[in-house]
Amino acid sequence: MNVSTTQTPARQHATQFADRLRDAPDRQLAERMGRLIAAVARIVEEERIDREDLRAMIRFLTDVGHASDARRSEWVLLADTLGITSLVETQVTRRPAGTTPNTIAGPFYRMDAPARQDGESISLDGVGELLILTLEVADLDGDPVVGAVIEVWQANAEGLYENQAPDLQPESNLRGIYTSGDDGKAVVRTVRPKGYAIPHDGPVGDLLERLGLSPERPAHLHFRISAPGFQTLTTHLFDGDDPALATDPLFAAHPSLVTRFAPCAAGGFEARHRFILARAQTGQDQS
Ligand code: BEZ
Ligand code: FE
Repeated sequence: MNVSTTQTPARQHATQFADRLRDAPDRQLAERMGRLIAAVARIVEEERIDREDLRAMIRFLTDVGHASDARRSEWVLLADTLGITSLVETQVTRRPAGTTPNTIAGPFYRMDAPARQDGESISLDGVGELLILTLEVADLDGDPVVGAVIEVWQANAEGLYENQAPDLQPESNLRGIYTSGDDGKAVVRTVRPKGYAIPHDGPVGDLLERLGLSPERPAHLHFRISAPGFQTLTTHLFDGDDPALATDPLFAAHPSLVTRFAPCAAGGFEARHRFILARAQTGQDQS
């Protein structure tokens, strides 16, 4: 053992912990655990964590576990609302400057959405204010990406996804798969989505409340865009008039993903948006 008495108890503990892992069979896990415990020990010291703090933390983590079941993962929600999910997503999909940022898909994506013709509506019940989106898929040189598969899904005018309320909306409402044309464009007819609160009736919601953080997501549409030779892009388009933009609880509202839904003379709203894809590198995972 290599514990110096001139070190603080936190440093001594970190050193002792790392020493014990010297012969660990899983080297990567041991090194990460060593660094994790060193960081936690430093916080224990700096924040003067006491017994009640430790009990409160264990209580919170226990509650997060109890609030989770097969249909709801409070753990995922915790990682999401601390911004860790978005941070990891940004880190693992780092792409050239100028390309559209990747964001999380969220729990409401379905891979079995129906194919739609250019200009066809994904609003099967017609409830809400008309929104016409002219989308363009391009590469970093500004050249059109022809034949890109554009999956879109969104909440309705009440802020509910079709698979959240299957009795209230037609099957596959507000979902569809478009294909970009020779000019890289696709026109999506839909209704203006409403923002919604992420689940906040559990321990994560209590935490957000105590921290003065809002559970309200700004209104948005989700996209997943794939094309041969390009990295698949999972992203959002946000309503630029939504006051919740600056406080998105998932930290996904990058400025380049914000657009204005402009009123149309004939009624409803319209917006144009260009998605810029990054080329796939040979042998690279396309996600
Ligand atoms: C969503 O944007 O659909 C979403 C993402 C994470 C948690 C809840 C909803
Ligand atoms: Fe969403």
